[in-house]
Amino acid sequence: MTERLTDDEAGIARAAYLIRSGGLVAFPTETVYGLGADATKGVAVAAIYAAKGRPRFNPLICHYPSAETAFADVIADDRARALASAFWPGPLTLVLPRCAESRIAGLATAGLASLAVRVPSHPAARKLLDAAGIPVAAPSANRSGRISPTRADHVVSGLDGRIDAILDAGPTSVGLESTIVDLTGASAVLLRPGGVPVESLERVIGAVAPVQAFAAISAPGMMASHYAPGLPVRIDAQAPRADEAWLGFGQDRHEAAVALNLSPDASLIEAAATLFDALHELDARASVAGLAGIAVAAIPRHCLGAAINDRLGRAAAPRG
Ligand code: TXA
Ligand code: MG
Repeated sequence: MTERLTDDEAGIARAAYLIRSGGLVAFPTETVYGLGADATKGVAVAAIYAAKGRPRFNPLICHYPSAETAFADVIADDRARALASAFWPGPLTLVLPRCAESRIAGLATAGLASLAVRVPSHPAARKLLDAAGIPVAAPSANRSGRISPTRADHVVSGLDGRIDAILDAGPTSVGLESTIVDLTGASAVLLRPGGVPVESLERVIGAVAPVQAFAAISAPGMMASHYAPGLPVRIDAQAPRADEAWLGFGQDRHEAAVALNLSPDASLIEAAATLFDALHELDARASVAGLAGIAVAAIPRHCLGAAINDRLGRAAAPRG
């Protein structure tokens, strides 16, 4: 059952408690309603994709109560600091290199080395983020392929029964998603136009390149290279060869010098939550052990299995 909470003290406290406990809570931001979960828990983040029915693991925006807390998870340069002081809290998302100390689950960034951070201005969002005290990963709170919700009723019609609670604070004010600017390279790139006009950004940091000039960056989730470990990956494998590390699923008992299991219980939610971290870990350990590749067991293709197989397929794709 999905609880309907109001944005008073009790409602905010309940919403924060549910998120801290690994639950899913839709909450208002000034742009659109987001579907929030603890960004440091892979299983909680996996549940977001399951509830939305997202066919792919797109990277998610992490929400924070202040620039200070946001910048604890990324490497912020002068441009980032200038934009943050001009537009935060507000409808601007910054994509920055994630820092080594960041505890954000690999699934929240879809395995990318960058992290999208945002400090929303909606009073209920700010109170919730303050009370939760953890980074909250949140895509828009709609079913995959539907338009973003700007009122709690939109969220109810898409996600009722699929999430733990909806924090209702009436219609959102901006109604269109945040502007996303990528600051991981030498020139700033506009990944998505949104609540803050690009002209306003340019008054603060100078030229912001249109995304068309950097089409490859615009769809980070689509770039095979982002998902490819250093070693070759062989998917739908029956068993590891002598020179391969093994990534298992469910009750397999294969012997390999380097082996991990995505989910001994054969849970696709758990497998999704572990996937990116497991690939990173196996890649590192297999290289040290002098192995030649990573073999991955067949993963079912239903529910989150579709997205898992999409990402594994990219990891295994021939390298250009
Ligand atoms: O206004 C908003 O931004 C809303 C509210 C809830 O904050 N959120 C939202 O999230 O629109 P979503 O998931 O619907 O869109 C996030 C976009 C996606 O297109 C994703 O590819 C991009 O942000 N994104 C996230 N992390 C990224 C990264 N590390 N690099 C590049 N793009 C990223
Ligand atoms: Mg969306």
